[in-house]
Amino acid sequence: MSRLWDKGAAVDGAILRFTVGDDYVLDQRLVRHDVAASIAHARMLASVGLLSAADAESIAAALAALGASHARGEWCIALEEEDAHTALELRLVEQLGETGKRVHLGRSRNDQVLTALRLYLREAGEQMAAGAEAVAAVLEALSFEQGAVPLPGYTHMQRAMPSSVALWAGGFAAELRDDAAGIRRALLRAAQNPLGSAAGYGVPFLPLNREHTTQALGFSSTQEPVTACQLSRGKAEAALVFELCLFMQDMGRVAADLCLFATAEFAFVKLPDAFTTGSSIMPQKRNPDVFELLRARAAQAPADLQAIMAVTSKLTSGYHRDLQLIKAPLFRCIDSTESSAAVLAHALPGIVFSEANCRAAMDSSLGATEEACRLVIDRGLPFREAYKLIAAKYRS
Ligand code: ARG
Repeated sequence: MSRLWDKGAAVDGAILRFTVGDDYVLDQRLVRHDVAASIAHARMLASVGLLSAADAESIAAALAALGASHARGEWCIALEEEDAHTALELRLVEQLGETGKRVHLGRSRNDQVLTALRLYLREAGEQMAAGAEAVAAVLEALSFEQGAVPLPGYTHMQRAMPSSVALWAGGFAAELRDDAAGIRRALLRAAQNPLGSAAGYGVPFLPLNREHTTQALGFSSTQEPVTACQLSRGKAEAALVFELCLFMQDMGRVAADLCLFATAEFAFVKLPDAFTTGSSIMPQKRNPDVFELLRARAAQAPADLQAIMAVTSKLTSGYHRDLQLIKAPLFRCIDSTESSAAVLAHALPGIVFSEANCRAAMDSSLGATEEACRLVIDRGLPFREAYKLIAAKYRS
């Protein structure tokens, strides 16, 4: 097995295993994006006369077939192959011989990985935004069905003002729709094309046409100058993960409320038995583990953001292998967000607010602010005076 950079000398096995780490597993999700980028690159080479049109098309066909067989699970990246880029190229050369060797002109794995990651981020980000909208829609449905149920509104966890299921669910739904918009805005950082920056300094002695791949891959601009490309690695990732943290935070706070509302002391909601888990010793227990884990996942997301930003924070400019370690926290946060959104959207329709218990919690203190306002409107008192009169009433 020869790697793309092999110059004849054998690589120490322990060094190879350490430097590859989990990358060969993590890169599975980049395969089809590297296929798309490599096809665009081959056609660009043909457009500037660096590859024959026939070669470009056989490369494109072979890459598309490799992408399809990978998607069917017929092959995966081996540790010795290091990454998605190498695995694809080795198979391409195996199939096309000489022609396959012609695709790696005017590019480097450094711009390949940036490009594949951005194509992946665009797709994953859109899925995450749709996930936030799906949870918002479920909350809106909950509000439609049970919105009229009154709820005490709390500040400092003390009863404050009258609220309702409509206000509770509607607030979260509005924030989740904002989270979706924030996620889409974060994707602007993934909209610049790094392909053609090669190792990080371009290939000025070849007549590459970077605009060609920008168009073909649906990027909105070509990232310039070439030295910006490696400086931007990790930034689109961090921007997306930051927005995912906010999305996870909203889901975590829905979950925290439901854990509280489901206590015997509050008893505002009843969770369906099928959504609760039991205790191995206490036969009566029905625990809201799903919401506790959502809360904990939300707390962990910022650790992934920190793990991403820590990698780049003290690096000198240019490509460094350090950057490889951005993938694990990125994918972890995306996967965690995706499964959290799915389980919350699945669980929320099962939540039933107890109208009787919620109404019983609506004590008269919740009307204190309204009473003070009435004194202003009906009797023309300054609010400060009205406030004092009502405060005295509730002190006793
Ligand atoms: N796995 C590598 C990464 O994620 C791919 C690029 C390798 N480039 C290199 N010069 N070793 O960064």
